Amino acid sequence: MASDPKLFVFDEVAKHNHQADCWLIISGKVYDVTPFLEDHPGGDEVLLLATEKDATEDFETVSHSLDATEEMEKYYIGNIDMSTIPKPADHRPPASKSESAATEAATEKTSSAQSSGSLIKVLQVLIPLLIIGVAFYLQYYGKKQ
Ligand code: HEM
Repeated sequence: MASDPKLFVFDEVAKHNHQADCWLIISGKVYDVTPFLEDHPGGDEVLLLATEKDATEDFETVSHSLDATEEMEKYYIGNIDMSTIPKPADHRPPASKSESAATEAATEKTSSAQSSGSLIKVLQVLIPLLIIGVAFYLQYYGKKQ
């Protein structure tokens, strides 16, 4: 009876990320490609860059031949527990929070700018009226004395 394939967790696989020890995660399976690094037609660099993550997309982006898929089986060592693979950074950082804070600040700025604008308008009317008032007052009292 064939034994069940080994089930790895992401952190364990991610440790194998260098030239002397290189594991890849492709389509839910784990491959130890260390002996294949030097022979990989695409070079060892791309394989090393594909460690510490789900490399399925990287592998599929390069349309590997059927030969390549067959070659892979030589390096298969087990499966990955998919729930342990970190999700790609698809969450919004608290930028939205600071964005809204920025919007609030902008709104506050606008309203304070609006209120200081209307104060200037009021003063523009009041000051000439005050000057005219003072002029009339002086004229009236000046004549009287
Ligand atoms: C167990 C994993 C892998 C195996 C067995 C494998 C095998 C192969 C083979 C046999 C070829 C020759 C062309 C072909 O037959 O398709 C090839 C080419 C290539 N592979 Fe992989 N590969 C693996 C993973 C990857 C990964 C993760 C990448 C990441 C991007 C990658 C990138 C490439 C590139 C760039 C080429 C060269 C294509 C060209 O210049 O024609 N391979 N691979």
